[in-house]
Amino acid sequence: MRIDVLTLFPDAIEGFINESIIKRAIASGKVEINLINFRKYSPLNNNQVDDTPYGGGAGMVLRCEPIFNCLDEIKTDDSYVVLLTPEGSTYNQEKAKSLTLKKHLIIICGHYEGFDERIKTLVDEEISIGDYILTGGEIAAAAIIDSTVRLIDGVITKDSLESESFNDNLLDYPTYTKPAEYRGLKVPDVLISGNHELINKWREEKRKEKTMEKRPDLLK
Ligand code: ADE
Repeated sequence: MRIDVLTLFPDAIEGFINESIIKRAIASGKVEINLINFRKYSPLNNNQVDDTPYGGGAGMVLRCEPIFNCLDEIKTDDSYVVLLTPEGSTYNQEKAKSLTLKKHLIIICGHYEGFDERIKTLVDEEISIGDYILTGGEIAAAAIIDSTVRLIDGVITKDSLESESFNDNLLDYPTYTKPAEYRGLKVPDVLISGNHELINKWREEKRKEKTMEKRPDLLK
């Protein structure tokens, strides 16, 4: 998988992709991530990328040319282009699973008040990471990179992926580690019993209970 991120602030993402699991996925060749500062694709003096909105109004708007020029260079028939915007469809684990199957993901991060609407003619999908406004798409890009790269075959163990929240629309079961008792707080007896059939049954029950209590919307 190759991920190209178009951003005016590559340093904001650089540190993140050079840590832990994502760093290892890059080092082992499972993913290639390119952070592209699209300012260099501006045709204007001083590499200007934004301008005032036609018709008036607050703030600055991202101009078309840098994004169009950059995509002219990097987009191929295998590319899937995502625009990060609070107006997009809300990101979730299902969406992460679908993006992880793309050969070449291009993620466009905005900044300022918004984009020139014509940029949207270039994209396959508009994605939001939640109903709140960020100052730019970089944090959203990091969230998408993290959640998709960890799903690539061999990046983390299959076992970890099978028993995690949102699979089967359920949250994960509660987990404990040593010591078996700490400040009067005990690990449930069943987990220490060694009876794997009972443990699995308990875990399935807890997944349902927890989901019912915390995220009943997932069960609908
Ligand atoms: N850019 C600004 N806010 C955003 C959000 N909530 N999701 C994705 N991109 C954004």
